[in-house]
Parts: sequence; C-alpha cells; structure tokens
Amino acid sequence: MKVSHQMLNIAKFICFCFLTTVIHFANAQSNFDSMSGSHPSFSEILSFRVDSVLNLMTINEKIGQLVQYSGGWDATGPSSSENHQYKLSKLKKGEVGSMLNVTSVAAIRETQQIVMENSRLKIPLIFAYDVIHGYKTIFPIPLGESASWDLEIIQKSASIAAKESAASGLQWTFAPMLDVSRDARWGRIMEGAGEDPYLTSKIGVARIKGFQGGNLNDKFTVAACAKHFAGYGFGEAGRDYNTVNIGDYELHNTVLPPFKAAAKSGVATFMNAFNDVDGIPATGHRELQHDILKGKWNWDGFIVSDWGSIGEMIAHGFAEDKKQAAEIAMNSGSDMDMESYAYEGHLAELLTENKITESQLNDAVKRILKLKFELGLFDDPYKYCDETRERENVYTKEHLKIARDVARKSIVLLKNENKTLPLSKSIEKIAVIGPLGDDKDVPLGNWRGKGVYNSAVSLLEGIKNKVDKNVQVSFAKGIELMSETVEPGKNQFLYPIKFNTKDKTAITEAVELAKKSDVVLLSVGENAYQTGEGRSQVNIGFAGLQNELIDAVTKANENVVVVLMNGRPMDLSEINKKVSTILECWHLGSQAGNAISDVIFGDYNPSGKLPVSFPYDVGQEPLYYNQKNTGRPYSMDHVTFSSYRDAPKEALFPFGFGLSYTNFKYSDLKLSRSEISKDGSLIAKIRVTNTGDKVGEEVVQLYIRDLVGSLVRPIRELKGFEKIKLKPQESRTVSFEITPETLQFYTQNKKWEVEPGTFQIWIGGDSKASTTAKFSVQ
Ligand code: BGC
Repeated sequence: MKVSHQMLNIAKFICFCFLTTVIHFANAQSNFDSMSGSHPSFSEILSFRVDSVLNLMTINEKIGQLVQYSGGWDATGPSSSENHQYKLSKLKKGEVGSMLNVTSVAAIRETQQIVMENSRLKIPLIFAYDVIHGYKTIFPIPLGESASWDLEIIQKSASIAAKESAASGLQWTFAPMLDVSRDARWGRIMEGAGEDPYLTSKIGVARIKGFQGGNLNDKFTVAACAKHFAGYGFGEAGRDYNTVNIGDYELHNTVLPPFKAAAKSGVATFMNAFNDVDGIPATGHRELQHDILKGKWNWDGFIVSDWGSIGEMIAHGFAEDKKQAAEIAMNSGSDMDMESYAYEGHLAELLTENKITESQLNDAVKRILKLKFELGLFDDPYKYCDETRERENVYTKEHLKIARDVARKSIVLLKNENKTLPLSKSIEKIAVIGPLGDDKDVPLGNWRGKGVYNSAVSLLEGIKNKVDKNVQVSFAKGIELMSETVEPGKNQFLYPIKFNTKDKTAITEAVELAKKSDVVLLSVGENAYQTGEGRSQVNIGFAGLQNELIDAVTKANENVVVVLMNGRPMDLSEINKKVSTILECWHLGSQAGNAISDVIFGDYNPSGKLPVSFPYDVGQEPLYYNQKNTGRPYSMDHVTFSSYRDAPKEALFPFGFGLSYTNFKYSDLKLSRSEISKDGSLIAKIRVTNTGDKVGEEVVQLYIRDLVGSLVRPIRELKGFEKIKLKPQESRTVSFEITPETLQFYTQNKKWEVEPGTFQIWIGGDSKASTTAKFSVQ
C-alpha cells in the first residue's frame, strides 16, 4: 500500500501524543522506579521523551527549534511591521524555538497559542527575558549585591526574581553574568560580581541556585543562563564589545573558573559572547564551546548566541557571509541563534552540502527539547500562564521587605573618620543635597527588568520615613545631572545620556541649605544608564557639574556624608580629600532610600565589602588586587620600578574592604599542619573578636600566595570567606580547610595541578590583611 506523506505525518503525530502522555506518567513514577532499581532512570526517561519528539521532526522543524526571536509585541494584533509578520508566519509553522522580550502572562499565552494552535507538532516555545537584578521588585545591581558577600541573601534575591518572572509567564532568564572584570571603564561591570574569580564563582552558583531552585519543574523557578562565554569582561581598554587579548593563563585561571562552577552546579543554559578571544570570536570558538564546555566539562545544557552575535562574525572579519557564520557557529557548538537569522536561513543548505551534519543538528535540538521537558512545558505549555499567580506574586510587600534587607547588606562604608555615622535620629537639621538625593529612578539601575520608572524609594523619602517628626529634613538638588531626559515611553536602555554642563544656578541654594544644617547627606554619583551594556566611559569621576557642587557644599559645611550611587568603581580621590565620611550605595533597587536610612541611623550596621578595587585614577585601570608581582615590585625613590610617577599603584579602596560601626580584631592564626602532601589538606584557624560596642557582621577573608610556580602566581588570591555576626566583645574561631582544590592552578603543563613549594596565607577583613602564616607542600 502506498502511504502518503501527509498520512505518515498524521500517524507520527498520533504516536507522538500517545508517547508524551505515556512518558508523562512514567516521569511521575520515576522516583519510585529508580528506587526499586528495575526501571529506567529519570534521565533515561527524559532522553527517551526527547527522542520521541525528535524522531517526528522534519529538518525545518529541527532548525526552527534553534531559532530565537525577540518579541515585545502585541502578538496577534494588527501590525504593519514586515518583521513582525514574518515572525508570526514562522511561529505558525512551528519554526521558532524560543522568544525573548515577550513579557506578561497575557502576551506569553497569546504567543504560545500561535504555536499550539497552528503548528504541526505543537512544540511549546520557551520564553526568555533579561531578569538581571529582579523582575519588578528590583534588587541592587549585581555588582552592588555582590558587596554583601552574603551567599544566602543573594540566592534569596535570585529566587524572588525567579518567582516573579515565572509567575509572569517566563521560564528562562539571561543571568547570571559571570564575566570577571577588572576594568572600571567597562559599563557592564555593574552586571557581574567584580574582579575576583573565586567570589564570582561562589556568587554565580548562589544566583543559579536561586533562579533554578531544586527543580526546574517547579512553577516558581526559571532556567538560568551563564553568560558571556567567554572573556567578555576583558575587552581591551574597557570598551564594550572590544577585542580580548588574553593568553591561556588568564583564560584558564581567571575567566573560566566561574563558568566551570556554573556548569558543575547544573546551570541550564550558557550564552556565548560578542568579543573575540585572541582572534577567534567567542560565538565561533570551538575550543571553548565544543571542546571545553560540552567536552571536558561534560555539560549537557544548550548554548544560546548573544544578540546577533552569529551574524556579527561577518563584521569581525571571521566569516564572509551569514552562511559561513552559521556554519562556523554550528560547528563550534553554538546551539541557538538569537536574532541573527543565520541558522534559519542557512542550516538546511549547509546540511545538504555536508558542511554540518544531521547528528550535530540533532544534538542541538535535543539539548533544547530536554530543557522544555524539564520545565514541564510539554506537559502543559501554559503552565506558567496564570493571571492570579501573576497578580499575587509580583511586587509583593514580602518581596520589597527582602529587597530592603538585600540592599542594606550591599552598602559599603568606605570612610567614617570622625565617626559621623551613625546619625542620631533626633539630630535637628538634616540637609539632603545633590542631583540623586530625591531621585526615584536612578536607584533602579540599568537592566531593571519590569521595574517601573520612578518607583524606587529615594534617599530623601527614606530619611523622612525614619526620623522623628520634629527633625527638619530639607532638600536642595543643587544641579541637574542631565541636560535632557529620555521621553517617557521610550526605552531608556537604548539612548545615550546627556549631562548638564551649563546650568549652575541652583548651587547657591544648596550652599545656603548646607550652611544652616547640622549634617549634609550629599548624594552624587552616576545616572542609572551610565553603566550597563554599551555604557563604557573613559572618565570614571563625577560627570556634569557634580564636582562644582561637591566643592561648594563641602566648603559650606564640614559635616558632609557622601552618599554615592553608582554602577562602577569610581575615581574618588578628590572627594576623598574633601570629606570624612563616604557611603557606597551603588544602585540599590526598589528600596534604596529605606535601606540607606537603615545604615545612616544605625538600624543596620554596615557589613558590605568591595568586590572590586576603587582606583586613585582611571589611568590605573585595569586595576585588581590579585596582580602578579613583576620583577620590580618595590617602591623606592628612584624611578626604575613598576609604579606610576604621578599616582600610587595600589587601590584607593582595595578589594574586600569595608568598614563597620564596630571593630574586629584578628588573632591566634594557627595551621593544623605546617607541611602537607600534594593531595593533603590542612585547617587554618583564626580568632575574630568584636572589640567595639555594637553588634556587627564581618566578612572573614582567606588569601593565599603560591610563592614559586611553574607560572608566575598572583601576589594574593581569595580562597575562602565566611560572614559572621558578633556581639560586642564576643569572639569566634573561624576555620578554613585548605585542600588541593584551594591550591591548584592551571600550570605550565596546561593542567590543573598543585605544585610543591611554600605557600603563604593571610586572613583578615580585606585583601590587605596582615595576619599571616606559611606552610609547604611536599
Ligand atoms: C546582551 C545579553 C542579553 C541579550 C538579550 C545582549 O545585547 O549582551 O547579555 O542577554 O542582549 O537581551
């Protein structure tokens, strides 16, 4: 009998429906079954389910799964845009695997329906969005949050971001960004965890756990995405998208460790990067994606390209046209094409020409289908689409309360020379001065998800919420930071910002207010859109007329507390000479003003520590604590040593630094052994005492130096930390286990190894800690 193609497809489809139902039940049984030992394991069932779908797919449907489009539209409503109509037709054919930027339950349901009601196989879409530091309840920017060094609270904030996103229909966030960056000029430094690979690894894993929870099938979790693989944070001269010239040493010892930790922790997806690494664009980097990530690390998720990054290999001069770009990306292990239209346009042709293979295509499709099964989308494509859940779980009082706690834990007290802080709540006259003092938008930072314009608690509001009624709180803006604001309704993310450099008229009023106040809270720093994607700057000082305002106000009143709001390490050398108190408040999110007030009035004793070095001058960038020593490290009066003639070579405020309203003393550093074998370990113990009169938290930090190596080793590397809370006069012994994992590095043999020799350790409250001991590895 001759069976038509159509009949065959119908038969396949019936078989598919049957199989997925059967497998659904099998899935539910899997825990019990694997316990009995006589049935397939969960992962076997999952891969069986994936294969059952794959076997039904045509080449075009397979390629379609590798396509991701941006939406941000009213899905079925009338639209004249050709691109919109094109995307719609591809959705109907089932030739799209994922959408980004479609948000809200209503829009997501509507878009999913297009696929479910029109396509042959009804393979659900997966919906993604950049939920970077909160969905609608906005947490501190990631760099700021990292200053908490509090893995529990960081995980919590990611879990709330996931809950709000998933309740709004999303299943996938493009976070966390794991790019180690040592360059304050780079705008995206705000999006990571700073300059250290160890801290970035720990924080990255905490964020992944927060987003993904224990189970992707949970309706309140989302898939995470480790990005940008790899090297994006090392763009030359801090310029975004710029070329990355790092060798194997930095790549393996500094850039890759956070990604390896993410892969090990089970992150569902990776995103590759815009930059080239030593001449090879990351998106077309086979060694990174195919050999290391999917090979050596045996990671089984999928890699999405960065926006248009497959197509950008043409501009890089690495591919002649989109067809060749698609070939390179596919052969390098890049699975999903975000907005390049390269895979959909050319993979079929590349297959017929044997430039890529069907098994490569199948592998990419399977990785994507696997995640869709894990998220439960095959069981119910509308699983995340529930308006009641959306209403009840987004921007709740409970979430805002946690956002306040995360925010206050992220604040770093940089200077408190005269013990001006904490302020008494009954101080008589407080002046809030500065362009950011009553700003309700800047604290939301860049990459603010669905954070509503002007919805943050401003510093002024936070202060007023806190003080007694008879305290006089006055405000003077002094200057406008910007000369123009982006029209409401326009996407601020896309527009350059313009600073006011002319109108100084309101400075006089600010000076008058400063003169008659007991204390001035001077709020200066950076606009929300001075950092983030495409926001690199060669100047990291105070833009616009802020220096003039700072000058005038600090002359008018000696009691000035600088309340900094910023997204990158800034050059604070001048302001540091003028004031005795500096509070680093980043862009702290929805509850910024309340959190800052908690710290200013001592309801929360600051415990944040810098995750990046703050320089004396932009000319020192890239600046990082874990440098190598060089052959001429000394500071001497003559010139031929590794230093600058016009600035120190050290940081103004070093990595790991942050003050408290109390003091901590470190004593009795003891090692359990002075000598270990290459696979041995030892314990380092230290006594930490709160010598002040307030309860406080301290981040106890362990640094190590391998004194002689087959490759030159950094002068110090963070290898452990613990945040502890101590009452006045209380002591605690903190222990760190030093294992081969702590001591190994990517050696001259191109392997992770522990090399014998002497190691020095330091334990203390920042990267300059002086309590030290030595041990040797035989
Ligand atoms: C960024 C990514 C982001 C993507 C989608 C790109 O421009 O580099 O980090 O996830 O856009 O919005």
